[in-house]
Amino acid sequence: MRIVVLVSGTGSNLQAVIDAIASGELPNVEIAAVGADKHGTLGVQRCADAGIETFVVNFKDYSERAQWNHALTEKCLSYAPDYVISSGFMRIVNEEFINAFEGTYINTHPALLPSFPGAHGVRDALAYGVKVTGCTVHIADTGVDTGPILRQEAVEVLPGDTEESLHERIKVVERRLLIATLADLAAGKA
Ligand code: GRF
Repeated sequence: MRIVVLVSGTGSNLQAVIDAIASGELPNVEIAAVGADKHGTLGVQRCADAGIETFVVNFKDYSERAQWNHALTEKCLSYAPDYVISSGFMRIVNEEFINAFEGTYINTHPALLPSFPGAHGVRDALAYGVKVTGCTVHIADTGVDTGPILRQEAVEVLPGDTEESLHERIKVVERRLLIATLADLAAGKA
């Protein structure tokens, strides 16, 4: 199973996938390429060490969002992936992209969807005062963190939690769910 992984940030979830492949935990998964929406992400830098191909479709290089979407779609298609994984990719893609990868664009989100979608899922859950939040792996559509849910797991909010401390605990679970989802997909079980 060939995957393209899209990142915007530190790529620690991506690193977990790289490590799982290296350790033989995901024997049928190959990262065809890792792409970012801007230059200088740690996520892309991590790939140099692992010898993984990278690309940047820089959002700021395009005056129209649709042109950026088109370029991203074409670039991802060029790798002929079975799945595209949004792993901390902080851009909404349009219909052209979703149609090109219908049912095969997978997103991870650090909250229990449909609660707390958007860029600040951890902060919003904390601000609301929930006692339990979590993470979700789902098939993405054109909405903001919407689409069929594949896996979900709860994470308890602890007294004194900050956005950072809570997000770190969520990401530990998120990495496990992402790897389990990839194993399912590679086995045709999703
Ligand atoms: C993850 O929690 C992801 O769900 C969210 O941003 C985080 C990405 O972390 N959208 P990293 O870049 O994998 O470290």
